[in-house]
Amino acid sequence: MLVSAKEMMKKAKDGKYAAGQFNINNLEWTKAVLLTAEECKSPVILGVSEGAGKYMAGYGTVVGMVNGMLKELKISVPVALHLDHGSYNGALACIEAGFSSVMYDGSHEPIEQNVANTTRLVEICAKKGLSLEAEVGSIGGEEDGVVGMGECADPDECKRIADLGVTMLAAGIGNIHGKYPDNWPGLSFETLQAVKDKVGDDMPLVLHGGTGIPDDMIKKAISLGVAKINVNTECQWAFQKATREYIEAGKDLSGKGFDPRKLLAPGFEAIKATVRGKMELFGSVGKS
Ligand code: 13P
Repeated sequence: MLVSAKEMMKKAKDGKYAAGQFNINNLEWTKAVLLTAEECKSPVILGVSEGAGKYMAGYGTVVGMVNGMLKELKISVPVALHLDHGSYNGALACIEAGFSSVMYDGSHEPIEQNVANTTRLVEICAKKGLSLEAEVGSIGGEEDGVVGMGECADPDECKRIADLGVTMLAAGIGNIHGKYPDNWPGLSFETLQAVKDKVGDDMPLVLHGGTGIPDDMIKKAISLGVAKINVNTECQWAFQKATREYIEAGKDLSGKGFDPRKLLAPGFEAIKATVRGKMELFGSVGKS
């Protein structure tokens, strides 16, 4: 059964590790993440962007697929199904469809609008026992057409949003989705510390853009209160590389021709290896 991310976040904060959010894009992705979480005895958050939700034939399809896998694959670790960077209406649609957790990303709205929408969602999620992630200071890079600037969040604005009663808070600390540019100055731990000082020790912080952040920075971020780390691009790279190598080796071009079960198997294994590596780095292995 899907669970909200509330307990996961509390345990991760107390235990000084982070739960991984791995974005899913299709059946193979979802199965790879769930099986790896089970093998690692790790809690896990499945992230679904609005674009990925549309691609997978709608939120209802995603809920059906994930619930089906939890049962058929006998997944016993805690799993949250979470909307990633949702709009207000997207969050409502996911709640309606049966997600156990949503992110409302109001970081590109004026702060008053972000506060108003987050306030409404706090109420709705509280009634249904769901977890809610909010964002302040947009994350750089491009996600479903939304381009952030890699801002550092204003700690006072973080406090305003955190005090509304959200479960977890994504604060921009110079992080970027996708590949980091060569001249990237690194995460702003100064900002992270300032945000933590304002929102208090109990608020789990979320680090987006988990691809390509050096391991020592990940560990330092966790030590400063990050309890959830999002990874998407690295799984995409791993999937793409493994699939390309398989095709280039000509293995799928003989015999019966296109067989998705064969063609997608190397990518599936590559995602599993990527997810396992991240769970080890985040310290969530054995924490289910
Ligand atoms: P990456 O694509 O950089 O791993 O970031 C994922 C993310 O933050 C999703 O919200």
